[in-house]
Amino acid sequence: MPNQPDILEKLVSLCKRRGFIFQSSEIYGGAGSVWDYGPLGVELKKNLKDRWWHAMVRARDDIEGLDAAILMHPRVWEASGHVAGFTDPLVDCRNCKKRFRADDPKIKGVPGTPEAQCPACGMKGTLSEPRMFNLMFKTFIGPVEDSASVAYLRPETAQGIYVNFLNVQQSTRQKVPFGIAQIGKAFRNEITPGNFIFRTREFEQMEMQFFVEPGTDMHWFEYWKEQRMNWHKALGLDPARLLFHQHTPEELAHYARAAFDIQFDFGGTLDFQEIEGVHNRGDFDLSRHQEYSGKKLEYFDQPNNRRYVPFVVETSVGADRTTLAVLVNAYREETVEGESEGRTVLGLHPALAPIKAGIFPLVKKDGMPEFAEKLANELRPQFPVFYDESAAIGRRYRRQDEVGTPYCITIDGQTIADGTVTLRDRDTLQQERIAAGRVGEVIRARLAT
Ligand code: GAP
Repeated sequence: MPNQPDILEKLVSLCKRRGFIFQSSEIYGGAGSVWDYGPLGVELKKNLKDRWWHAMVRARDDIEGLDAAILMHPRVWEASGHVAGFTDPLVDCRNCKKRFRADDPKIKGVPGTPEAQCPACGMKGTLSEPRMFNLMFKTFIGPVEDSASVAYLRPETAQGIYVNFLNVQQSTRQKVPFGIAQIGKAFRNEITPGNFIFRTREFEQMEMQFFVEPGTDMHWFEYWKEQRMNWHKALGLDPARLLFHQHTPEELAHYARAAFDIQFDFGGTLDFQEIEGVHNRGDFDLSRHQEYSGKKLEYFDQPNNRRYVPFVVETSVGADRTTLAVLVNAYREETVEGESEGRTVLGLHPALAPIKAGIFPLVKKDGMPEFAEKLANELRPQFPVFYDESAAIGRRYRRQDEVGTPYCITIDGQTIADGTVTLRDRDTLQQERIAAGRVGEVIRARLAT
């Protein structure tokens, strides 16, 4: 097992080499802390998002899906508190022009005083006093760049849900308690992004806002905490690497009555870090949107003939950050008995694996490639498969282990004689012989568990 700081470095290299994740605009030297998902990465992240969507929307009758636009009316961000409060304190070094968060532990002394030393160039007295820096990306709608046309790239997806609360409730006739879920891009001009896809300026969130009757909010808050923790465990994240962190009164966001993070142990210097937040937001958001829009956002409780503004319990998880957690959790290097070369394995949950089966003719003759290609074509509509006839069979297994493919099917001399193939399991390395005609059904059954 390599030590943890190595793992992030090794993952960055594996992700590039095998087509999971590339640096954005790499041929131009890269764009600041944004990443592109390659052929295998897009499948992995999509599988993760599909699992979330299935658990949160499709498998339940009390949560509706939504896909709101990234650009919204600028007043939304005044109402939400982001224009005034979504800020980080920033200091500049007058000498080397580098920027830091004022609370960066590498800064020695109080910024703005002669004693404070720049962590980059080492000069004393060159750090400015902290000034507040808004993390929202600003742009303009239409051809005129004036204050009337200002728009922001959304820094969270949640606001698209609040402003559509009544549209969704009335069109679906849902009754409180019910939720609205969406997956989408969010943008934050982070001052200190980094650690690969852990903190980036463009990322995807999977958010769900659950609307409840005031007074029942703490019950639902506990319910959602447990549901979400169980979801992460079912992804295969090691339970020993997951914990809840309760926000102290100082940590609580302006909108939150109570908040817990679900943290994952990324190892190395990252250690335990938030991957998801579960927040009891009270009626803050809906009330503010009522106030700023002048439109009522009340729920009418017919049995009790009463109108009220529901409270909201929010679950908010990063798709990219969870993808990183899944990769870190899955990465292992091991020795193989009887072989001089070790292997690198991504022990991904089979449902998340980008490729479900590798299909290999043992040798490139005696009808084996034709048989294997035919099988690959039969299986491809059922799940993603990868046909590979190049290099020694051991090499082909290793290539699939490294990208997390749970099964490999080999077509050999016996296949041509009796129609059976070998099915190799990535983790146990066990090989079993089964009829080629049963491979699809056997793998589908295993993927479903
Ligand atoms: N609506 C509530 C909200 O946005 P948050 O704690 O700011 O809460 C929720 O963000 C999740 O979004 C985080 O737990 C993290 O997984 C993800 N996230 C936030 N900022 C991110 C960034 N700069 N890069 C990658 N993921 C980020």
